[in-house]
Amino acid sequence: MNKFKRTTVTAALIYANGPIHIGHLAGCYLPADIYVRYLRSSGQDVKFISGTDEHGVPITIKAKKEGVTPQEVVDKYYKIIKDSFEEFGISFDIYSRTSNKVHHEMSQDIFKNLYDKGQFIEETTEQYFDAKSQTFLADRYIIGTCPKCGNESAYGDQCERCGSTLSPTELINPRSALSGEVPVMKATKNWYLPLDKLQPMLENYVESHPEWKTNVLGQVKSWLKDGLRPRAMTRDLDWGIKVPLPDTDGKVMYVWFDAPIGYISMTKELTDQWELYWKDPETRLVNFIGKDNIVFHCLIFPAMCNADGRFIMADNVPANEFMNLEGDKISTSRNWAVWLHEYLREFEGKQDIMRYVLTASSPETKDSDFTWNDFQTRNNSELVGTFANFVNRAVVLTQDNFESKVPVRGELTEYDIQTLATLAEFPAKIAESIENYRFREALALMLDVARLGNKYLADSAPWTVIKTDRERTATIMNIGLQIAANLSILCEPFMPFTAQKLREMFSLEGLSWNQSGSDSLLAEGQPIKNLGHLFTKIDNSVVEAQVKKLEDAKQANLLAGKEVPVIKEIIQYDDFSKMDIRIGTIVQAEKVAKSKKLLKLTVDDGLQQRTILSGIAEHFSAEEVIGKQVTFLANLAPRPMMGMTSEGMILMAEDKDGSLAFVQPSKNVWNGGVVA
Ligand code: MF3
Ligand code: ZN
Repeated sequence: MNKFKRTTVTAALIYANGPIHIGHLAGCYLPADIYVRYLRSSGQDVKFISGTDEHGVPITIKAKKEGVTPQEVVDKYYKIIKDSFEEFGISFDIYSRTSNKVHHEMSQDIFKNLYDKGQFIEETTEQYFDAKSQTFLADRYIIGTCPKCGNESAYGDQCERCGSTLSPTELINPRSALSGEVPVMKATKNWYLPLDKLQPMLENYVESHPEWKTNVLGQVKSWLKDGLRPRAMTRDLDWGIKVPLPDTDGKVMYVWFDAPIGYISMTKELTDQWELYWKDPETRLVNFIGKDNIVFHCLIFPAMCNADGRFIMADNVPANEFMNLEGDKISTSRNWAVWLHEYLREFEGKQDIMRYVLTASSPETKDSDFTWNDFQTRNNSELVGTFANFVNRAVVLTQDNFESKVPVRGELTEYDIQTLATLAEFPAKIAESIENYRFREALALMLDVARLGNKYLADSAPWTVIKTDRERTATIMNIGLQIAANLSILCEPFMPFTAQKLREMFSLEGLSWNQSGSDSLLAEGQPIKNLGHLFTKIDNSVVEAQVKKLEDAKQANLLAGKEVPVIKEIIQYDDFSKMDIRIGTIVQAEKVAKSKKLLKLTVDDGLQQRTILSGIAEHFSAEEVIGKQVTFLANLAPRPMMGMTSEGMILMAEDKDGSLAFVQPSKNVWNGGVVA
């Protein structure tokens, strides 16, 4: 790694169209922050760059949904996102936005340079145009029938019912989402980056990085294998960065053209030295992203940089997979998420618990799952039981027996020497894991240091030894405290707030990674402050409330999305009059053995008692339905079910939330009464 003089670390520029959730944190921001904090601590020159992506269709769609302007959307979410990252301790050197002037200028400069160098191909194609709103329609703004599954509200780029990827021209009966009008085809000129011509260069580039993560290489190689095609770098839209060419009114840059340039423009905003961080081959560029951004960072952005000729390409693109929540895909639209700004409010001062848990179950190699139960268990057993417990023992024993001062170390035993030797090996091991983007492993090693300390104290039993040998106890406590002090350095990349408390406890300032592993971070006689437990147990009630919150959101969402079904096709009176619908009374009811759904009802229909098997057992108990008047279909052909025969069908009405209600006459009528 020392062929590099400095490192530029970027974390994906998230769309400013919604708040941050734990999936974003686990996917890209936390690993990037751990990496950067470690580099800084080990004295390396690093810049950590991120911000919001404020262009593109996702922003305009959100604006339309909220009934506000795109500018209002990005202003609102930029602030929410920036504040929540800051409070969570993501230590960007700059968190900026692609709406800034520097960014517009730099994007236009790069576009112009590519144009002047003849790197674009100009092509005129026919695109859907909405004559009423006088705009070309982005794929997302065209709605029509999916050719694969018949869904009548599929989008021009994707059908959300069957999941197929579509192109707008495949839609049957296309219409504009803006006006509802049928769009027309209209010719338009756009500028394309010939990725097909750049393919050999990209292949070499990818080949030269066999160390990239397998999930990343997998996606990239499959794209290369399919063969790259020219990709339009301009769009007919009004929200975005103006194309810096004559006669291009109504055209803006493709959002994936300008967004990654944001990494460069934000560095320029940060420092006059920005060129060092983007042009010097001795700079290592690392792009942290989530898996949905892989091709843009591994192929398209490098292709742009290469074609431009002025900028370095990434040394690594450590993309994570996705994190699920309680076994279900995180979804913004379904509100199935743990939102960072809400967590920060509800778990004040507990950033490090979430940082720890998300890192411990990070989707590094495959999708992972966050559960509140796991959150509680890891906190209670690993952070409280191991980490905080160890530090607390070391501090309290010193306070009780040595007036809160680091005691004098005497002669070391074989075991002491061995323990200190083990301690000394940790920093290099943790560093190696971090440098190779294995953050889970690094975190586990860090916790092992606390385990080592715990084991050392348990084996040495200072609480017993103090009764007979004060000098030996002093040595034990000195060693225990040195291990605890080491944690203030080693845990900092993962748990910066806890690291800060540890530094306060031990009056340590400005220690660097290179000093960790040492057995003498603390001088004899140095005062120790007891600041209480670093972590405390989380009660069942706390996590139960969080699970309930999720379930409530799911329910609310289900109801919000529920629409009254469309009316079935027209029938004639004759079709209806064939049905004999009657009133009867349930006189007996029992649950059908071995069936979750069925109740066996005996219905008095005025002529006889008939058996009707009804699928309502999940909604009603046998007891509560006895005596009810019901409406039933009397001439339905008898149907065998579960070894019995059902003679008819009870009519039920379904409510919005899926619950069922009996359809009853508004006053009691005689059994056998005809419904017509
Ligand atoms: N806005 C994109 C997203 O949220 C990410 C853009 S990353 C960058 O998925 F390359 F543009 F910076
Ligand atoms: Zn479909």
